Amino acid sequence: METFKKNTPISVDYERYNEESNSNRRSRIYRKELASARTEAKRTIDFVEVLCTAEVTLKAVVTGGAGFIGSTIADRLLKEGYSVLVIDNFRTGQEAFVSHNLKNPKYTLVREDLLNYEKILPHFKEAKIVFHMAANADVRHGLEDTRRDLEQNTIVTYNVLEAARKNGVKKFVFASTGSIYGEPDTFPTPETYKIPIQTSFYGASKIACEGLIQAFAEGFPMKGYIFRFVSCMGERYTHGCVFDFMKSLRKDPTTLHILGNGKQKKSYIYIGDLVEAIFHVISTQHEKVNIYNLGTDEFVDVNFIAQTIFDELKLKNVKISYSGGERGWIGDSPFIYLDIAKLQKAGFSPKTSIKDSIIHTVRYLNTHPFLFDQR
Ligand SMILES: NC(=O)c1ccc[n+]([C@@H]2O[C@H](COP(=O)([O-])OP(=O)(O)OC[C@H]3O[C@@H](n4cnc5c(N)ncnc54)[C@H](O)[C@@H]3O)[C@@H](O)[C@H]2O)c1
Repeated sequence: METFKKNTPISVDYERYNEESNSNRRSRIYRKELASARTEAKRTIDFVEVLCTAEVTLKAVVTGGAGFIGSTIADRLLKEGYSVLVIDNFRTGQEAFVSHNLKNPKYTLVREDLLNYEKILPHFKEAKIVFHMAANADVRHGLEDTRRDLEQNTIVTYNVLEAARKNGVKKFVFASTGSIYGEPDTFPTPETYKIPIQTSFYGASKIACEGLIQAFAEGFPMKGYIFRFVSCMGERYTHGCVFDFMKSLRKDPTTLHILGNGKQKKSYIYIGDLVEAIFHVISTQHEKVNIYNLGTDEFVDVNFIAQTIFDELKLKNVKISYSGGERGWIGDSPFIYLDIAKLQKAGFSPKTSIKDSIIHTVRYLNTHPFLFDQR
């Protein structure tokens, strides 16, 4: 160490001094930064531990949550530990599908029309995910009121998207339909099928919804999950040909009138498989926009459905009449069979056969006859 005596001329090596003092200062700063980084890291670890041990409840909004599919999704979300807020105007929704949840503190039911944007907006606060299942789900009557599908499907979907993004929702799950493929010429029809020609107002309104979801996902930090379903059957089923046939057979079990020639070929999916498929895809796939067909690897014709119902109800010699033609109504597709290879590649295959789906549906409707008075 250098010693200095009084009056000793001091020669200072400023460069070395500066360098040393700089390096001391730097190491002091580093030590300080290190200490504060340690404190910060500890705080983060403590926070993560709290998150892991405390019960963190994620909020999901289900539109159309009093309907066939939406109410089944709401029940599944509650089982997963989500808090669930359902918005439904009960146009086709059923009290019986929501009543068992009304006392659950994690369940909120909002009776509101999704066309009322200002009214629905606050309900999306703090939601992590939206399942948009509300729609006019009846394909058949589009020509009777050409505005209905536009309003109930496209405008409502815009309202729900806008409310979701204004509240920072990160995942948007949408119930699209195989009807968007119109009358394709490729079977099974893959998701990559060229933009099809629309044959129904329902399909046209749903493909417009898909376009909106894609644009929202492009412009905002929100992932889109678009599921194109074939017709769905099972518990809480309230509309479709099994419903119509059973309703008619309850009135008169000796005759059945079938729209079209009975040879329309369609694929169907069981509600249990549909909901499992949705949950599988949203938890494993993370593209900006994820589009999946939901169906099964088989199809049946309408005559097969009628015969399965007769067998299950033990009805013999039912006289069938047909309205005739390849289609049941204008916009009905004579053949719907979706390619589910993409879903299978993502790791999910439906388990229930179409025949079993029909049988589950017939048994459910037989034990819930009040539904025939509702719709
Ligand atoms: N069921 C099927 O076979 C099938 C097939 C393909 C696609 N989808 C789609 O799946 C979704 C669910 O269908 P579903 O069979 O459960 O139909 P559903 O009629 O049983 O359910 C729709 C629900 O949305 C509610 N709703 C409709 N318009 C509303 C509005 N403006 N405001 C608030 N609530 C409103 C209804 O009251 C009902 O509870 C729909 O989007 C439908 O288009 C269904």
